[in-house]
Amino acid sequence: MTENISKEIHLKNRPEGLPTENDFELAQVAIPEISEGQVLVQNIYMSVDPYMRGRMYDRKSYVPPFQIGKPLEGGCVGRVIESKSGAFKVGDYVLSMLGWREYFVSDGEGLTKIDPAMAPLQAYLGVVGMTGMTAYVGLLHIGELKEGQTVFVSAAAGAVGSVVCQIAKLKGCFVVGSAGSDEKVSWLMEEAGIDAAFNYKTADDVIAEVGRHFPKGIDVYFENVGGVHLEAALEHMNANGRIVMCGMISMYNDIKPVPGPVRLPYIISKKLTMKGFIVMDHFDKLGLFITDMGKWIVEGKIKWKETIVDGIENAPQAFIGLFKGENSGKMIVKIGPEST
Ligand SMILES: NC(=O)c1ccc[n+]([C@@H]2O[C@H](COP(=O)([O-])OP(=O)(O)OC[C@H]3O[C@@H](n4cnc5c(N)ncnc54)[C@H](OP(=O)(O)O)[C@@H]3O)[C@@H](O)[C@H]2O)c1
Repeated sequence: MTENISKEIHLKNRPEGLPTENDFELAQVAIPEISEGQVLVQNIYMSVDPYMRGRMYDRKSYVPPFQIGKPLEGGCVGRVIESKSGAFKVGDYVLSMLGWREYFVSDGEGLTKIDPAMAPLQAYLGVVGMTGMTAYVGLLHIGELKEGQTVFVSAAAGAVGSVVCQIAKLKGCFVVGSAGSDEKVSWLMEEAGIDAAFNYKTADDVIAEVGRHFPKGIDVYFENVGGVHLEAALEHMNANGRIVMCGMISMYNDIKPVPGPVRLPYIISKKLTMKGFIVMDHFDKLGLFITDMGKWIVEGKIKWKETIVDGIENAPQAFIGLFKGENSGKMIVKIGPEST
């Protein structure tokens, strides 16, 4: 700790379109002394996630908007460095939603102890954390995936998509993913072991490309992106197929609403189910997720990638990078040391 000062990132402006670094401000704040029942936590890894873009608008949603001049929030792994609490001791590793800052004082509410022996610390923000759980709940519970089905995944090399692809393979499905670089496509086929993948940025016609990969049609589409990917899925869905509406990142920076999708009438003629979900509503499945994911990881059946950016001052850049495909797997920012 430098002279009891914590660096944190504040929201400076509500971004218009793609955020820029000018929409964020690096602030330095004094760290208060802890009182009885409190702990001081030093953050180590913080998550940047696409949903945070939604919290930058001043509008009602399932989470409140970020406030101008206040620190942003988000998933974070830290270590207790001072404690006057019976529930936490110095050296405990904790998961919280108080990211985007180096240190914070807490009375323990919203802190969850995590075990560094179970998984690398940063994995609690990804494959064994929120994004892994999103893939699990979305595919198996919302998508009601069945063995042997055909599955299309967009943003397939990202944090959620890469886990969706591999769970679908574990369930004996035929899986095709779309991603934004040849390197990501190679990883999906060679490491994640899916049946096919393509680079949507170099494909002449994404809708035709998806059709070429699915001669027997798509049973489950896992939607992370929106736009032409959703059009392609609707075009090639099989009757009674399911579309899991997880995210639509291609639209998060739109300044004006974009009309569409034009193929929505297929929902009727093909009798499709299109269902949205928010992972935080499904914490009742946390135990199931941890059991299954823990087993798959121990058996070497799930692989994952992380893109780790160093330094809290680079967190805005890492966040903006999500919208440019700069991450492979989970985008994480390292903002403190793992141990003293
Ligand atoms: N419903 C929920 O509870 C929930 C929870 C977590 C996440 N999500 C959603 O799930 C999706 C994936 O999240 P994540 O955390 O795993 O992020 P991620 O996939 O690790 O990162 C975002 C990726 O999106 C792709 N992308 C960005 N802009 C794009 C565009 N205009 N068109 C196509 N692809 C674009 C980029 O990959 P390429 O290089 O492939 O373009 C980028 O790497 C997001 O839509 C997110 O909002 C939903």
